Amino acid sequence: MNEIEELKSRIQKIKAKKMESGDELLMALHAAQELFNNSIPIEAAETISELLKVKMNRVYELATFYSMYSTRPRGKHLIRFCESLPCHVVGGKEVVKTLKTILGVEVGETTDDGLFTLETSSCLGLCGVGPVMMIDGEAYGNLTSERVKEIIDSYRGEKR
Ligand code: FES
Repeated sequence: MNEIEELKSRIQKIKAKKMESGDELLMALHAAQELFNNSIPIEAAETISELLKVKMNRVYELATFYSMYSTRPRGKHLIRFCESLPCHVVGGKEVVKTLKTILGVEVGETTDDGLFTLETSSCLGLCGVGPVMMIDGEAYGNLTSERVKEIIDSYRGEKR
């Protein structure tokens, strides 16, 4: 099954839950991002619009309003590094610098191999174990430059 067919199938399951239309739309956007490397391409937006009977401009309104969604291509793994003050003061500044160096990108960019997109985020709610980052929704705390290298290597080495 290709990604669009899979998206259609997921949207049918979302519709079967009979939730509020706004919630349906957010879930469909989430499903699209899972299927299309963390972004919502035009064909996915069109599929969502058609199956949920929502105008395209409404789909794009939500897809561009929430920072968790993106309509531009992103990497397979989405890194969100907390840039809020509590993480910043316990070493976050140094760790994000290391991340940029080992990935070879600036914040907002995707690595050449398409594996990672580096983004920053405000507080992720885990200030007690800062500095903190999330990769694809998985949280990593008490980060040091060394720990970050290990984590990135583990993603590079695996077959996710
Ligand atoms: S300030 Fe970084 S997780 Fe709260």
